[in-house]
Amino acid sequence: MQILTSRDGGVFRLQINRPEKRNALTNGMYDTMASALEKAADDPGVRVVLIHGQLDAFSSGNDLQDFVQAPPTNEDSPVGRFITAISLAPKPIVAAVAGPAVGIGTSMLLHCDLVYAAEGTRFQLPFVNLALLPEAGSSLLLPQRVGHLRAAELLMLGEPFSAAKALQFGLVTEVVADGDAALQAAEAAATKLAAKPPTALQLTKRLMKAPHAERLAAQVADETSHFVEQLRSPEAAEAFKAFFEKRAPDFSASAERASPPSKISQSERPHV
Ligand code: COA
Repeated sequence: MQILTSRDGGVFRLQINRPEKRNALTNGMYDTMASALEKAADDPGVRVVLIHGQLDAFSSGNDLQDFVQAPPTNEDSPVGRFITAISLAPKPIVAAVAGPAVGIGTSMLLHCDLVYAAEGTRFQLPFVNLALLPEAGSSLLLPQRVGHLRAAELLMLGEPFSAAKALQFGLVTEVVADGDAALQAAEAAATKLAAKPPTALQLTKRLMKAPHAERLAAQVADETSHFVEQLRSPEAAEAFKAFFEKRAPDFSASAERASPPSKISQSERPHV
């Protein structure tokens, strides 16, 4: 089973469990995670969701083979379902991260409420390197969280960054020692949250998120349409081929498109 779920009291645990591929996420895994989050949202016995991977890998992001063989086509695709479920989750989400946290392995953390990272965690948002684009609302949430310059560094250079930097940028709650300390810290926090008055807790989360909810949904829709287009591009094909051939990609043949990929959407227009 590549996604393990269990419930202990009010804590619903979702574990990513595909260690042989560093927890790369397939369509089937996204579907299972989306269903699990929907179930957790509906189950009054669940007070908090805990997400983690192995002690040495959170997630290496979307399965690149899936991007080639079964790419998402719209917001109803498995990854879209997962993004909707995690972004609308009404109950607090606590995450424990360690090892690689790449692509959606980092961007899903923007939807979590408490994030505990092992000091050796390697975060990365390498979308541009793969000729892809930010997803899961990260093109909105990351600049909001860390400011434009820092977001541009993470999203445009796309280089791995440390847990210390993630803490400095406000992307994680706390950095702890490698090993099981991140999981222990996340479990302890989840247990504390599960004992809080649930209505007050959920309303607190809702009030913090409500002002940005509509904007976030529009941004996710924009990201998805551009992402789906970019996935079909020759430059993305070269990036994926290079990954599996274990070589550096060569984008020298890629020409910038003569016209912008799509018309500018309503949400991109400056508000006056
Ligand atoms: N999709 C598909 N397979 C992946 C994968 C991914 N996102 N990430 C890792 N794998 C596979 C590797 O191909 C390798 O498979 P193999 O054993 O059949 O050769 C296996 O998982 C182990 O990966 P490896 O690269 O040897 O592990 P590592 O610990 O040295 O490095 C990463 C881990 C995450 C840094 C590295 O695997 C990586 O950069 N992966 C790609 C990340 C990525 O670009 N994700 C998409 C973001 S949109």
